[in-house]
Amino acid sequence: MFEVEKIRGEFPILGREVYGKPLVYLDNAATAQKPRTVIDTVARLYREENANIHRGVHFLSERCTAFYEDARKTVAEALGTPDVGEVVFTAGATASINTVAWAWGGKFVGEGDNVVVSEMEHHSNIVPWQMLCERVGAELRVLRFDDEGALKMEELDGLLDGRTKMVAITQASNTLGTMPNLKPIVEKAHAVGAVVLVDGCQGFVHSEVNVRELGCDFYAFSSHKLYGPNGVGVLYGRRELLEAMPPFLGGGDMVRKVTFEKTTYADLPLKFEAGTANYIDAIGLAEAIKFLRTLDRQGVLAHEKALLEYATEELGKVEGLRIYGTTEDKCSIVSFNVEGVHNFDLGSVLDRSGVAIRTGAHCADPVMAHYGVQGMARASFALYNTAEEVDTFVAAVKKAIRMLK
Ligand code: ALA
Repeated sequence: MFEVEKIRGEFPILGREVYGKPLVYLDNAATAQKPRTVIDTVARLYREENANIHRGVHFLSERCTAFYEDARKTVAEALGTPDVGEVVFTAGATASINTVAWAWGGKFVGEGDNVVVSEMEHHSNIVPWQMLCERVGAELRVLRFDDEGALKMEELDGLLDGRTKMVAITQASNTLGTMPNLKPIVEKAHAVGAVVLVDGCQGFVHSEVNVRELGCDFYAFSSHKLYGPNGVGVLYGRRELLEAMPPFLGGGDMVRKVTFEKTTYADLPLKFEAGTANYIDAIGLAEAIKFLRTLDRQGVLAHEKALLEYATEELGKVEGLRIYGTTEDKCSIVSFNVEGVHNFDLGSVLDRSGVAIRTGAHCADPVMAHYGVQGMARASFALYNTAEEVDTFVAAVKKAIRMLK
C-alpha cells in the first residue's frame, strides 16, 4: 500500500519552510527532491569510499568500480535490457541526446536526409537535431500537436520517407504532460528504416519503462528528475547501433590503446564514457531506483494521477484560467495561464505562500509559440505531494489573482 505521509518522511527537504510557510514543492518536472537514502549514499561515498574508478588496483578504487558497475546493472534492469553494455552513463539527458546527434548523426545522417521531431519536444530534443541538420544539410521535420496537446498522428506518415534517418520523440511532454503512444511511432519509423530516440526525462518518472518491449533504439533520461543526484544521466542504445557509432568525446577510460599513429577504443559502454565518470552520482541514481523499487509502483502512479485529476478539476473552476494539455493520457503536469496575469507575477506571489511552481517557457519555445504565449505557469506533482498541497496551491492561485488583477 502506498502511504504518502510515510514517504514524505523520507524526503528531508519537505520538512522545511519558505518565508515562514511550509514548503509546497510543485516544481518536480524541473528537478525532483531526493530521498534520504540517496543523500546519505552520496555523502557516505565521499566520506568513506571515494577513489577514481577503472584506474587503480587499490582497495578503494576497486570498491568504487564495483559500486559503479553494479549501478549500471541496476539501471539496465530498470530499463529492461539484459545487456549492461547498452547503458552509458552521461552528464544527463542533454548529453545523451547530443552524443547520439553528434556521433550517430555525424556518421549516418547526410545531405538530403531528414530528422523528425515533435512540436512538443523540450529544447534538448530539438536543438541537437537542428544543429546536426545544419551541419550536414539535412531537413528537420516537425510532427505537430493539436490544441488539446495530442500529437497529430495522422500527419506522421506524410513526414516519414526513405530519407528519414531519425525520429526523436518525447515519452512525456514537460509542458503539456502528454504521453504520446510511442509504439505506433516506433513501428512507423522502423518501417521506413529510421531509428527512434525517446526522451524519457519526464516519462521514466511517471510510467513503467521497458526499452526492449517499446522497441526504441535510443532512450535518454536524467537522474535528477527521478529522485537521484544531479549531473548524471543515461543513454541507452541498442548494442548494434552503439557499436556502429564512433565515440563522441575522446579522453581517458574510453580507449584500449593510444599511440600517436592510431588509437583503438574500449568496448561498450566505456567507449562513450571519456574522462572520470560521475561515478558517485551514478551510484546515487541506482540508489534512487532501488528506493522506487521499494514502493508500490502502481500505487505511486495512481496517487500521481489522483493529484493530477484533483488539481485539474480545482483549477478548472478558476475564472479566466486556461490549462494547456488536456489529453486523457497525461502525466502529473499542469501548465496554465490566467487571463490578465503574467505567469512570473503569479509564480512570485505563490512563492510567498511557500508554493514553488515553474514559470516561463519551460525550455519549450515551440509549445509557447503554438499557443501564442510567452510563458506559462506549471505545477508538476511528484509521488510525495498531497491533496492538501493541491488545496494550498489552488488557494494561493486564487489569492494571487485577487492581488494581481
Ligand atoms: N526541463 C526542465 C523543466 O521542464 C528544466 O523544467
